[in-house]
Amino acid sequence: MDKIVVKGGHSLKGEVTVSGAKNAALPILASALLADGKSVYRNVPDLADVTTMLKVLGTMGCGTGRLTGERTDVCEVSVEGPIHPEAPYDLVKTMRASVLVLGPLVARFGRARVSMPGGCAIGARPIDQHLKGLKALGADIHLTEGYVEATAKRLKGGTVNFDVITVTGTENVMMAAVLAQGRSVLENCAREPEVEELARVLNKMGARIQGAGTSVITIDGVDGLNPVEHAILPDRIEAGTLMVAAAITGGDVLVRRVVPEHLEPIILKLRETGCTLTTEEGGIRVKAPSVIHSVDVKTAEHPGFPTDMQAQLMGLMTVADGTSVISERIFENRFMHVPELHRMGADITIQGHTAVVKGVRALSGAPVMATDLRASASLVLAGLRAEGKTEVQRIYHLDRGYERLERKLRDLGADISRVKA
Ligand code: EPZ
Repeated sequence: MDKIVVKGGHSLKGEVTVSGAKNAALPILASALLADGKSVYRNVPDLADVTTMLKVLGTMGCGTGRLTGERTDVCEVSVEGPIHPEAPYDLVKTMRASVLVLGPLVARFGRARVSMPGGCAIGARPIDQHLKGLKALGADIHLTEGYVEATAKRLKGGTVNFDVITVTGTENVMMAAVLAQGRSVLENCAREPEVEELARVLNKMGARIQGAGTSVITIDGVDGLNPVEHAILPDRIEAGTLMVAAAITGGDVLVRRVVPEHLEPIILKLRETGCTLTTEEGGIRVKAPSVIHSVDVKTAEHPGFPTDMQAQLMGLMTVADGTSVISERIFENRFMHVPELHRMGADITIQGHTAVVKGVRALSGAPVMATDLRASASLVLAGLRAEGKTEVQRIYHLDRGYERLERKLRDLGADISRVKA
């Protein structure tokens, strides 16, 4: 297994361009199932999770591919021949977001057989709300042998009130509703920018969705949709990760191709730490202070501080000038980066869903183990700051959500490389 080796102590300087958003690309690729023909997507990040989603679509009979040569950011999904509406366990277990094919399959083909995703490192991550929403639109749902079997002659518009705010749950049910008969009203929806982006794509395909990005989404079902061409929005979590890289190394970095309003909670929190953040030419410039101030963080659904940035911010707080209290309020087990940060000399105490981080003068490089996507990023960030060499192992976790992160950091002056196992 590959590892990343980083030698700390270099301030990052220069410009870096953010890739397309993983958590927008995944539902948008699944939405191609809703229309016959070829959909073309640009600014699709070259990530393991995207490759998995293309594989899931391919096993169903879709034509899928990523262009080579100049435009490797372009992916195509063609729905031409017969579709086998099944997402097998061996693929779904590697990427739970495969469950996003459920809504489109039931809406378009009247049936779906999708493996239950099971839990993952950061939590149980049930999909009860996805199923509740599909049932409310008239789908028959059966759970057999670890699979969800969903059928419906034609889905009918209905009202769904989510008991829990769920990003992919909102996305799955929205994709089911676009072809249902009549009006659907989804309440207590996720408001993430990626939900809004999916609705933008569905409306370009001919859907009639209003309110995406707010907690109430109204969908008037249509009889059919058309394939689409679309450029995926930039990844706000990658942008935030790169901004923290500038902060933790005492750097000065222009993070290009961002949507500032999507970064609001991250920008405000980094300003609290003493960073100077300014908008310029389609990017955000981050200038680190000489001393990072400790700040408290509570993760929340958008527009709160994103749980996907919790580990990265904790990395920064390990070298801040005071004590920071970080509460993880979305997932039940998202502190697995803590024992690894301890190995680097961090002073962190976990009390239930809260971590108390006391800033230390310096971290020391060490061999550490990635456990999940954002934890891996946190360890790389800590390595950029630590004295000496840090080796981050099992970086297949990192490759799920970051496109050539080590190259982007090296171009900013980091001493970092990927070592093939
Ligand atoms: C999406 O996951 C993201 N993934 C996650 O990003 C992100 O951390 C998460 O939203 C929260 O922002 C994609 O978009 C592909 P949820 P999702 O459903 O939709 C509970 C990353 O690092 N819940 O919003 O799976 C659930 O257990 C990944 O890029 C139910 O109880 O998350 C959790 O506690 C990690 N029942 C909370 O809701 C359900 O049916 C939020 O989960 C669904 C969710």
